[in-house]
Amino acid sequence: MAQLWGGRFTKATDEAVYAFNASLSFDSRLYAKDIEGSMAHAKMLGKQGIISKEDEEQILKGLAQIKTEIEEGKLTFSPEYEDIHSFVEAILTDRIGDAGKRLHTGRSRNDQVALDMRMYVRDQVLKTDQALYELLKELHKLMKEHLSTYMPGFTHMQKAQPVTFAHHLGAYFEMFARDRGRMKDAYKRMNYCPLGAGALAGTTYPLDRKYTAELLGFYGPTANSMDSVSDRDYVIEFLSDLSLVMMHLSRFCEEIICWNSNEYGFVEMDDTYSTGSSIMPQKKNPDVAELIRGKTGRVYGALTSMLTTMKGIPLAYNKDMQEDKEVFFDASDTALTCITLFTGMIATMKVRKDRMEKSAVLGFTNATDAADYLVKKGVPFRDAHGIIGRLVLYCLDKGCAIDDLSLQELKTISEVFEEDVFDAISLKTCVENRLTYGAPGSAGMKQVIEEHETYLSKELPREV
Ligand code: ARG
Repeated sequence: MAQLWGGRFTKATDEAVYAFNASLSFDSRLYAKDIEGSMAHAKMLGKQGIISKEDEEQILKGLAQIKTEIEEGKLTFSPEYEDIHSFVEAILTDRIGDAGKRLHTGRSRNDQVALDMRMYVRDQVLKTDQALYELLKELHKLMKEHLSTYMPGFTHMQKAQPVTFAHHLGAYFEMFARDRGRMKDAYKRMNYCPLGAGALAGTTYPLDRKYTAELLGFYGPTANSMDSVSDRDYVIEFLSDLSLVMMHLSRFCEEIICWNSNEYGFVEMDDTYSTGSSIMPQKKNPDVAELIRGKTGRVYGALTSMLTTMKGIPLAYNKDMQEDKEVFFDASDTALTCITLFTGMIATMKVRKDRMEKSAVLGFTNATDAADYLVKKGVPFRDAHGIIGRLVLYCLDKGCAIDDLSLQELKTISEVFEEDVFDAISLKTCVENRLTYGAPGSAGMKQVIEEHETYLSKELPREV
């Protein structure tokens, strides 16, 4: 056990307690951020004359070397170190002696871990944003291809009115674009540097907090040292953003699972994104979509877990906050993988245009338009609604669509029907007549697609 704090103790830590308290097994993932933060701290200490230039140089060289060795697999995280901060400092001190011991001047592990975590979360926000951007690009591509792929739009899982596949996909484009907006917003709020907050009350050394903040790419230093070491709301905020992303993905997956079923047959998953059954040779299962839907629970779990962990913690640092890491790492890895796989899944799936159109026609999705047709001929809407209702019953009895009836048959239900009814209730007319901005008609859709084009060229993801 190589601990940073043995001086005040007369007995060694109980082994089970040591293991319970230690975090290296999971916070080792923060090594690059820990080293980057320490380098900025050392540069600042040197600049302020708190340590000598010579010590600064030795520290920087030593830290760079440690980073390279970890990356090359030459330095492994051994459990005798409590956490990533102890690990880096102990190895550094082993190698460069007293200079290494000076690195922690004016710093506490409390502001150190707050810094590491913030930098890590910040990267994850950018990586997730990049993945969402790729997803939006794929959706945009599919939307352009399917402007006149007609399909039923549903309410209560019942066929309602005709839409296009482009329009249905467009609904998700909006959701994922809003998710990006939320993350951008969260990023702006979290991008302040807690380094220099010390344990909780700042330090007596003349630190230049603006300088370290700048070196590490923050907008500036955090304004309250107690808040700096106690705040994990940026973790929660991002987890809530991820929960919304997962909720959107999960709904989309649920639809894809339905659409991919034998009954719908609207889409077919590519073999590369499907799995088989060990017993039923005919099966091709949409496991990727099901797993994404399933993994949504984990991400919600992380959000609930962190909200619960934080709710009773008095200011300032308490060890409870170490619990942020495992759930966060798991949730952000999960969400990132899900977004990426989902994008690949929809990019490769086959869209069965014929099945979608047939389903729209056989599902009376033009019933509202048929009623509107009568209204345009002078029938009051409530009466028209009743007439078309009777017409639907008649068709159900015959097992056909409204479009399949002859004018003669239509006239037995209402004399108002004329030859022009067939064009008025065709799937194409029904969709194209929906011409308002935001509706599935191609006029409105083209405008929206153009706006998406501008959005995609302007709202580029930032490099991590
Ligand atoms: N492993 C700790 C965490 O993740 C680091 C901070 C420890 N600070 C302390 N005062 N024990 O929160």
